[in-house]
Amino acid sequence: MNVLGIETSCDETGVALYSTERGLLGQALHSQIAMHERYGGVVPELASRDHVRRVLPLARQALEQAGLSLADLDAIAYTEGPGLAGALLVGAGIGASLAFALGVPAIGIHHLEGHLLSPLLSKDPPEFPFVALLVSGGHTQLMDVTGVGRYAFLGDTLDDAAGEAFDKSAKLLGLGYPGGPAIAALAAGGRPGRYALPRPMLHSGDLDFSFSGLKTAVLTAVKRGLPDDQARADLAAEVEAAIVDVLVAKALRALEQTGHRRLVVAGGVSANRRLREKLAQATERNGLRVHFPELHLCADNGAMIAFAGAQRLQAAAGSGPTAASTSAALPADGGAGSAAIDGFMVRPRWPLDSLPAL
Ligand code: KG4
Ligand code: ZN
Repeated sequence: MNVLGIETSCDETGVALYSTERGLLGQALHSQIAMHERYGGVVPELASRDHVRRVLPLARQALEQAGLSLADLDAIAYTEGPGLAGALLVGAGIGASLAFALGVPAIGIHHLEGHLLSPLLSKDPPEFPFVALLVSGGHTQLMDVTGVGRYAFLGDTLDDAAGEAFDKSAKLLGLGYPGGPAIAALAAGGRPGRYALPRPMLHSGDLDFSFSGLKTAVLTAVKRGLPDDQARADLAAEVEAAIVDVLVAKALRALEQTGHRRLVVAGGVSANRRLREKLAQATERNGLRVHFPELHLCADNGAMIAFAGAQRLQAAAGSGPTAASTSAALPADGGAGSAAIDGFMVRPRWPLDSLPAL
Protein backbone atom coordinates (compact mmCIF):
# COMPACT_ATOMS: atom_id res chain seq x y z
CA MET A 1 0.00 0.00 0.00
CA ASN A 2 1.38 3.44 -1.01
CA VAL A 3 0.35 6.25 1.34
CA LEU A 4 1.00 9.93 0.70
CA GLY A 5 1.36 11.85 3.99
CA ILE A 6 0.73 15.58 4.28
CA GLU A 7 1.75 17.63 7.33
CA THR A 8 0.72 21.30 7.62
CA SER A 9 -0.09 21.77 11.32
CA CYS A 10 2.38 24.58 12.02
CA ASP A 11 5.37 26.05 10.21
CA GLU A 12 6.64 23.11 8.19
CA THR A 13 5.05 21.79 5.02
CA GLY A 14 5.95 18.11 4.79
CA VAL A 15 4.91 15.59 2.17
CA ALA A 16 6.16 12.00 2.02
CA LEU A 17 5.46 8.68 0.39
CA TYR A 18 5.44 5.57 2.58
CA SER A 19 5.03 2.08 1.21
CA THR A 20 3.95 -0.69 3.60
CA GLU A 21 6.10 -3.07 1.54
CA ARG A 22 9.16 -0.96 0.79
CA GLY A 23 9.28 1.70 3.55
CA LEU A 24 9.88 5.41 3.10
CA LEU A 25 10.23 6.08 -0.65
CA GLY A 26 10.13 9.84 -0.97
CA GLN A 27 10.20 12.85 1.31
CA ALA A 28 9.94 16.59 0.66
CA LEU A 29 9.91 19.36 3.23
CA HIS A 30 9.73 23.12 3.30
CA SER A 31 10.43 24.99 6.51
CA GLN A 32 8.88 28.43 6.98
CA ILE A 33 11.40 29.37 9.67
CA ALA A 34 13.04 32.10 7.56
CA MET A 35 9.63 33.66 6.86
CA HIS A 36 8.54 33.75 10.52
CA GLU A 37 11.95 34.58 11.99
CA ARG A 38 11.61 38.34 11.82
CA TYR A 39 8.38 38.17 13.86
CA GLY A 40 10.00 36.07 16.60
CA GLY A 41 7.44 33.27 16.21
CA VAL A 42 4.90 31.72 13.88
CA VAL A 43 2.35 34.08 12.28
CA PRO A 44 -0.66 31.80 11.64
CA GLU A 45 -2.07 33.58 8.58
CA LEU A 46 1.32 33.65 6.86
CA ALA A 47 1.76 29.97 7.68
CA SER A 48 -1.56 28.99 6.02
CA ARG A 49 -0.86 30.99 2.90
CA ASP A 50 2.57 29.47 2.51
CA HIS A 51 1.25 25.91 2.96
CA VAL A 52 -1.18 26.59 0.08
CA ARG A 53 1.75 27.41 -2.17
CA ARG A 54 3.90 24.46 -1.10
CA VAL A 55 1.82 21.30 -0.73
CA LEU A 56 1.35 20.31 -4.38
CA PRO A 57 4.91 21.09 -5.57
CA LEU A 58 6.25 19.12 -2.57
CA ALA A 59 3.87 16.24 -3.36
CA ARG A 60 5.22 16.16 -6.91
CA GLN A 61 8.76 16.16 -5.53
CA ALA A 62 8.06 13.28 -3.13
CA LEU A 63 6.37 11.23 -5.87
CA GLU A 64 9.23 11.86 -8.26
CA GLN A 65 11.75 10.76 -5.66
CA ALA A 66 9.71 7.61 -5.10
CA GLY A 67 9.45 7.00 -8.85
CA LEU A 68 5.67 6.88 -8.56
CA SER A 69 2.75 8.81 -10.01
CA LEU A 70 -0.57 9.88 -8.49
CA ALA A 71 -2.20 6.78 -9.99
CA ASP A 72 0.03 4.61 -7.76
CA LEU A 73 -1.36 6.08 -4.53
CA ASP A 74 -3.61 3.86 -2.43
CA ALA A 75 -4.44 6.42 0.25
CA ILE A 76 -3.78 9.94 1.52
CA ALA A 77 -3.04 10.72 5.16
CA TYR A 78 -3.09 14.29 6.43
CA THR A 79 -2.66 15.94 9.83
CA GLU A 80 -6.13 16.57 11.24
CA GLY A 81 -4.92 18.18 14.48
CA PRO A 82 -3.81 19.52 16.86
CA GLY A 83 -2.29 22.68 15.43
CA LEU A 84 -3.16 26.00 13.83
CA ALA A 85 -6.70 25.81 12.40
CA GLY A 86 -5.95 27.60 9.13
CA ALA A 87 -2.74 25.68 8.55
CA LEU A 88 -4.46 22.35 9.25
CA LEU A 89 -7.28 23.23 6.84
CA VAL A 90 -4.81 23.53 3.97
CA GLY A 91 -3.43 19.99 4.36
CA ALA A 92 -6.84 18.51 5.14
CA GLY A 93 -8.49 20.29 2.20
CA ILE A 94 -5.85 19.31 -0.31
CA GLY A 95 -5.53 15.78 1.09
CA ALA A 96 -9.26 15.09 1.03
CA SER A 97 -9.69 16.64 -2.44
CA LEU A 98 -6.80 14.67 -3.88
CA ALA A 99 -8.17 11.46 -2.39
CA PHE A 100 -11.62 12.24 -3.77
CA ALA A 101 -10.19 12.88 -7.24
CA LEU A 102 -8.17 9.65 -7.16
CA GLY A 103 -10.97 7.58 -5.61
CA VAL A 104 -8.82 6.46 -2.69
CA PRO A 105 -9.42 6.80 1.06
CA ALA A 106 -8.24 9.83 3.04
CA ILE A 107 -7.43 9.55 6.72
CA GLY A 108 -6.94 12.32 9.29
CA ILE A 109 -4.00 11.72 11.61
CA HIS A 110 -3.20 13.07 15.08
CA HIS A 111 0.03 15.06 14.82
CA LEU A 112 1.38 13.73 18.11
CA GLU A 113 0.61 10.15 17.13
CA GLY A 114 2.76 10.85 14.08
CA HIS A 115 5.63 12.03 16.29
CA LEU A 116 5.13 9.18 18.76
CA LEU A 117 5.30 6.49 16.08
CA SER A 118 8.17 8.11 14.14
CA PRO A 119 10.89 6.05 15.91
CA LEU A 120 9.21 2.97 14.39
CA LEU A 121 10.55 4.22 11.05
CA SER A 122 14.14 3.77 12.24
CA LYS A 123 16.35 0.75 11.50
CA ASP A 124 16.05 -0.54 15.06
CA PRO A 125 12.40 0.12 15.88
CA PRO A 126 11.10 -0.20 19.46
CA GLU A 127 8.64 -2.93 20.37
CA PHE A 128 5.51 -2.23 22.40
CA PRO A 129 5.00 -1.55 25.26
CA PHE A 130 7.04 1.55 26.00
CA VAL A 131 7.01 4.89 27.78
CA ALA A 132 6.85 7.80 25.33
CA LEU A 133 8.29 11.21 26.10
CA LEU A 134 6.77 13.67 23.64
CA VAL A 135 8.70 16.91 23.60
CA SER A 136 7.73 19.50 21.02
CA GLY A 137 7.07 23.21 20.81
CA GLY A 138 3.58 22.82 22.25
CA HIS A 139 3.70 19.57 24.22
CA THR A 140 5.63 17.85 26.99
CA GLN A 141 3.91 14.59 27.75
CA LEU A 142 4.73 11.21 29.19
CA MET A 143 2.55 8.38 27.94
CA ASP A 144 2.19 4.70 28.63
CA VAL A 145 2.04 3.17 25.14
CA THR A 146 0.87 -0.42 24.74
CA GLY A 147 0.07 -0.35 21.01
CA VAL A 148 -0.98 1.96 18.18
CA GLY A 149 -3.78 4.13 19.56
CA ARG A 150 -3.28 2.77 23.10
CA TYR A 151 -1.94 5.85 24.81
CA ALA A 152 -2.47 6.48 28.54
CA PHE A 153 -1.35 9.81 30.00
CA LEU A 154 1.23 9.61 32.76
CA GLY A 155 2.22 13.26 32.97
CA ASP A 156 1.89 16.59 31.24
CA THR A 157 3.17 20.12 31.53
CA LEU A 158 1.24 22.46 33.77
CA ASP A 159 2.34 25.52 31.79
CA ASP A 160 5.06 25.92 29.15
CA ALA A 161 6.20 22.99 27.01
CA ALA A 162 9.90 22.02 26.91
CA GLY A 163 10.30 23.41 23.39
CA GLU A 164 8.53 26.58 24.46
CA ALA A 165 10.97 26.92 27.38
CA PHE A 166 13.84 26.71 24.89
CA ASP A 167 12.13 29.20 22.57
CA LYS A 168 11.29 31.75 25.30
CA SER A 169 14.73 31.52 26.92
CA ALA A 170 16.31 32.02 23.49
CA LYS A 171 14.24 35.15 22.96
CA LEU A 172 15.39 36.53 26.32
CA LEU A 173 18.97 35.84 25.28
CA GLY A 174 18.41 37.70 22.02
CA LEU A 175 18.64 34.53 19.92
CA GLY A 176 16.57 33.72 16.86
CA TYR A 177 13.57 31.46 16.37
CA PRO A 178 13.27 28.52 16.84
CA GLY A 179 15.11 28.75 20.11
CA GLY A 180 16.00 25.10 20.74
CA PRO A 181 18.72 24.75 18.12
CA ALA A 182 19.93 28.31 18.88
CA ILE A 183 20.30 27.60 22.62
CA ALA A 184 21.99 24.26 21.89
CA ALA A 185 24.49 25.92 19.55
CA LEU A 186 25.33 28.67 22.06
CA ALA A 187 25.46 26.14 24.93
CA ALA A 188 28.13 24.15 23.08
CA GLY A 189 30.62 26.88 23.99
CA GLY A 190 29.46 27.23 27.58
CA ARG A 191 29.36 25.31 30.85
CA PRO A 192 26.34 24.72 33.07
CA GLY A 193 26.71 25.59 36.75
CA ARG A 194 27.86 29.21 36.59
CA TYR A 195 24.25 30.36 36.76
CA ALA A 196 21.96 28.34 38.99
CA LEU A 197 18.58 27.94 37.32
CA PRO A 198 15.73 25.98 38.93
CA ARG A 199 14.82 22.41 37.92
CA PRO A 200 11.07 22.91 38.29
CA MET A 201 9.15 20.04 39.91
CA LEU A 202 12.17 17.75 39.85
CA HIS A 203 11.18 16.36 43.23
CA SER A 204 7.42 16.78 42.96
CA GLY A 205 6.95 13.01 43.11
CA ASP A 206 4.59 12.97 40.14
CA LEU A 207 5.20 12.91 36.41
CA ASP A 208 4.08 16.45 35.59
CA PHE A 209 6.28 19.27 34.36
CA SER A 210 6.39 23.03 34.79
CA PHE A 211 8.79 25.23 32.86
CA SER A 212 7.43 28.76 33.27
CA GLY A 213 9.57 29.42 36.38
CA LEU A 214 12.65 28.74 34.33
CA LYS A 215 11.77 31.56 31.96
CA THR A 216 11.43 33.97 34.90
CA ALA A 217 14.82 32.90 36.28
CA VAL A 218 16.43 33.43 32.87
CA LEU A 219 14.86 36.88 32.68
CA THR A 220 16.30 37.74 36.12
CA ALA A 221 19.78 36.59 35.08
CA VAL A 222 19.59 38.58 31.84
CA LYS A 223 18.38 41.69 33.69
CA ARG A 224 21.28 41.46 36.15
CA GLY A 225 23.51 41.72 33.12
CA LEU A 226 25.64 39.24 31.23
CA PRO A 227 29.17 40.67 31.13
CA ASP A 228 30.42 38.90 27.99
CA ASP A 229 29.85 36.24 25.35
CA GLN A 230 31.12 33.53 27.68
CA ALA A 231 28.47 34.48 30.22
CA ARG A 232 25.75 34.18 27.56
CA ALA A 233 27.08 30.77 26.54
CA ASP A 234 27.21 29.64 30.19
CA LEU A 235 23.63 30.77 30.76
CA ALA A 236 22.50 28.96 27.58
CA ALA A 237 24.27 25.81 28.79
CA GLU A 238 22.49 26.08 32.14
CA VAL A 239 19.10 26.53 30.43
CA GLU A 240 19.69 23.42 28.36
CA ALA A 241 20.95 21.45 31.37
CA ALA A 242 17.97 22.49 33.52
CA ILE A 243 15.42 21.39 30.91
CA VAL A 244 17.27 18.15 30.15
CA ASP A 245 17.71 17.27 33.86
CA VAL A 246 13.97 17.49 34.45
CA LEU A 247 13.07 15.52 31.31
CA VAL A 248 15.55 12.76 32.16
CA ALA A 249 14.46 12.45 35.79
CA LYS A 250 10.75 12.28 34.95
CA ALA A 251 11.24 9.86 32.06
CA LEU A 252 13.17 7.51 34.36
CA ARG A 253 10.48 7.80 37.01
CA ALA A 254 7.85 6.92 34.38
CA LEU A 255 9.83 3.81 33.40
CA GLU A 256 10.12 2.80 37.03
CA GLN A 257 6.43 3.38 37.65
CA THR A 258 5.21 1.42 34.62
CA GLY A 259 7.86 -1.28 34.73
CA HIS A 260 8.45 -0.84 30.98
CA ARG A 261 11.98 -1.45 29.73
CA ARG A 262 11.88 0.95 26.77
CA LEU A 263 11.67 4.69 26.41
CA VAL A 264 10.73 6.36 23.13
CA VAL A 265 11.46 10.05 22.74
CA ALA A 266 9.86 12.08 19.94
CA GLY A 267 9.03 15.63 18.84
CA GLY A 268 11.27 18.55 17.89
CA VAL A 269 13.21 18.61 21.19
CA SER A 270 14.23 14.95 20.68
CA ALA A 271 16.86 16.33 18.27
CA ASN A 272 18.69 17.87 21.24
CA ARG A 273 22.10 16.29 21.62
CA ARG A 274 22.46 16.74 25.36
CA LEU A 275 19.03 15.17 25.90
CA ARG A 276 20.03 12.21 23.72
CA GLU A 277 23.32 11.71 25.53
CA LYS A 278 21.91 12.04 29.05
CA LEU A 279 19.01 9.69 28.31
CA ALA A 280 21.33 7.16 26.68
CA GLN A 281 23.59 7.20 29.76
CA ALA A 282 20.74 7.05 32.26
CA THR A 283 18.89 4.21 30.54
CA GLU A 284 22.08 2.21 30.01
CA ARG A 285 22.96 2.56 33.70
CA ASN A 286 19.58 1.08 34.55
CA GLY A 287 19.64 -1.72 31.97
CA LEU A 288 16.92 0.00 29.91
CA ARG A 289 16.71 1.10 26.26
CA VAL A 290 15.95 4.43 24.67
CA HIS A 291 14.82 5.02 21.09
CA PHE A 292 14.82 8.27 19.13
CA PRO A 293 13.54 9.11 15.67
CA GLU A 294 16.23 9.51 13.04
CA LEU A 295 17.42 13.13 13.16
CA HIS A 296 15.64 14.12 9.95
CA LEU A 297 12.33 12.87 11.43
CA CYS A 298 12.49 14.74 14.77
CA ALA A 299 10.88 17.96 13.53
CA ASP A 300 7.51 18.06 11.79
CA ASN A 301 7.47 16.04 8.57
CA GLY A 302 5.18 14.20 6.18
CA ALA A 303 6.80 10.80 6.72
CA MET A 304 5.44 10.36 10.24
CA ILE A 305 1.93 11.21 9.00
CA ALA A 306 2.16 8.80 6.06
CA PHE A 307 3.45 6.08 8.42
CA ALA A 308 0.72 6.58 11.04
CA GLY A 309 -1.87 6.63 8.24
CA ALA A 310 -0.53 3.37 6.84
CA GLN A 311 -0.71 1.71 10.29
CA ARG A 312 -4.34 2.68 10.73
CA LEU A 313 -5.41 1.87 7.16
CA GLN A 314 -3.74 -1.52 7.27
CA ALA A 315 -5.49 -2.35 10.50
CA ALA A 316 -8.79 -1.17 9.01
CA ALA A 317 -8.29 -3.41 6.00
CA GLY A 318 -8.06 -6.34 8.40
CA SER A 319 -10.87 -5.42 10.75
CA GLY A 320 -13.65 -3.56 8.98
CA PRO A 321 -14.02 -0.33 7.04
CA THR A 322 -13.75 2.33 9.74
CA ALA A 323 -12.06 0.65 12.67
CA ALA A 324 -8.77 2.41 12.13
CA SER A 325 -10.04 5.87 11.30
CA THR A 326 -8.71 8.20 13.93
CA SER A 327 -12.05 9.97 14.10
CA ALA A 328 -14.37 6.96 13.93
CA ALA A 329 -14.83 6.63 17.67
CA LEU A 330 -15.57 10.31 18.21
CA PRO A 331 -19.09 11.75 18.55
CA ALA A 332 -21.08 12.71 15.45
CA ASP A 333 -20.98 16.45 16.24
CA GLY A 334 -17.21 16.49 15.89
CA GLY A 335 -16.51 13.23 14.20
CA ALA A 336 -17.69 13.50 10.63
CA GLY A 337 -15.43 10.63 9.61
CA SER A 338 -12.04 11.74 8.42
CA ALA A 339 -11.86 8.55 6.36
CA ALA A 340 -14.84 9.69 4.30
CA ILE A 341 -14.06 11.26 0.94
CA ASP A 342 -17.15 13.46 1.00
CA GLY A 343 -15.82 15.87 3.58
CA PHE A 344 -13.05 16.67 5.98
CA MET A 345 -12.46 18.43 9.23
CA VAL A 346 -9.66 19.62 11.45
CA ARG A 347 -9.19 19.53 15.22
CA PRO A 348 -6.98 22.39 16.43
CA ARG A 349 -7.32 20.91 19.94
CA TRP A 350 -7.40 17.15 20.21
CA PRO A 351 -6.32 15.04 23.20
CA LEU A 352 -4.07 12.16 22.19
CA ASP A 353 -5.62 9.69 24.61
CA SER A 354 -9.02 9.99 22.88
CA LEU A 355 -7.90 8.09 19.77
CA PRO A 356 -9.32 4.64 19.04
CA ALA A 357 -6.89 1.74 19.54
CA LEU A 358 -6.07 -0.58 16.67
O1 KG4 B 1 7.81 18.92 16.99
P1 KG4 B 1 8.20 20.26 16.51
O2 KG4 B 1 9.06 20.37 15.26
O3 KG4 B 1 6.96 21.18 16.29
C1 KG4 B 1 5.85 21.12 17.13
O4 KG4 B 1 4.98 20.26 16.87
O5 KG4 B 1 5.84 21.90 18.10
O6 KG4 B 1 8.99 20.96 17.73
C2 KG4 B 1 9.50 22.26 17.64
C3 KG4 B 1 10.24 22.58 18.92
C4 KG4 B 1 10.66 24.04 19.03
O7 KG4 B 1 10.28 24.52 20.30
C5 KG4 B 1 12.18 23.98 18.89
O8 KG4 B 1 12.84 25.03 19.59
C6 KG4 B 1 12.49 22.63 19.49
O9 KG4 B 1 11.44 21.80 19.02
N1 KG4 B 1 13.78 22.09 19.04
C7 KG4 B 1 14.84 21.89 19.85
C8 KG4 B 1 15.90 21.42 19.03
N2 KG4 B 1 15.44 21.36 17.74
C9 KG4 B 1 14.15 21.78 17.77
N3 KG4 B 1 14.98 22.06 21.17
C10 KG4 B 1 16.18 21.76 21.71
N4 KG4 B 1 17.24 21.33 21.00
C11 KG4 B 1 17.15 21.14 19.67
N5 KG4 B 1 18.21 20.71 18.98
ZN1 ZN C 1 5.35 18.55 15.92
